[in-house]
Amino acid sequence: MPSSVPSSRRPGPPAESVAERLAIRFVLNGKPVEARVEPRRTLLWVLREEFDLVGAKEGCGVGECGACTVLLDGEAVNACLVLAGKVDGRTVTTVEGLGGPEALHPLQQWFIRKHAVQCGYCTPGMLLSAAALLRRNPDPTREEIREALAGNLCRCTGYVQIVEAVRAAAREMAGR
Ligand code: FES
Ligand code: FES
Repeated sequence: MPSSVPSSRRPGPPAESVAERLAIRFVLNGKPVEARVEPRRTLLWVLREEFDLVGAKEGCGVGECGACTVLLDGEAVNACLVLAGKVDGRTVTTVEGLGGPEALHPLQQWFIRKHAVQCGYCTPGMLLSAAALLRRNPDPTREEIREALAGNLCRCTGYVQIVEAVRAAAREMAGR
């Protein structure tokens, strides 16, 4: 029997959500993944809402605090400013991929040892900005570290311990 309900009024998913979703495939913390997301979504949203990776934080949402920093093809980026579509075919590393409780990255170990973490809100972003720095400059000066972390704001530590932690990690990673 033909339906008496016009097709435009039948219940079902809103047309936009299915038709306008974008398929993205990328490597996330070493594993190939895919997601279907609305084009307006950011990488930060994708990480937190689609993959439950909540290390990257939303502080300002406009590229000013660095709390959302992740690595995109090895470079530190503000995930709140990267549209999901830009990630297709690329490699993303979050703090969860840097190291975990069973195998902390030297940066994570030294942040703990040097008391460079207080509330921890800025820490994932700081760690990834520092990781990107050490990748391109394994022996940075204090000034170079400060410069590399200039986009990462911390309301708690005053930065001295953070810079010392990055220096110590660099020394350990270089076997010095
Ligand atoms: S939340 Fe992305 S820079 Fe502040
Ligand atoms: S440790 Fe609290 S904002 Fe940095």
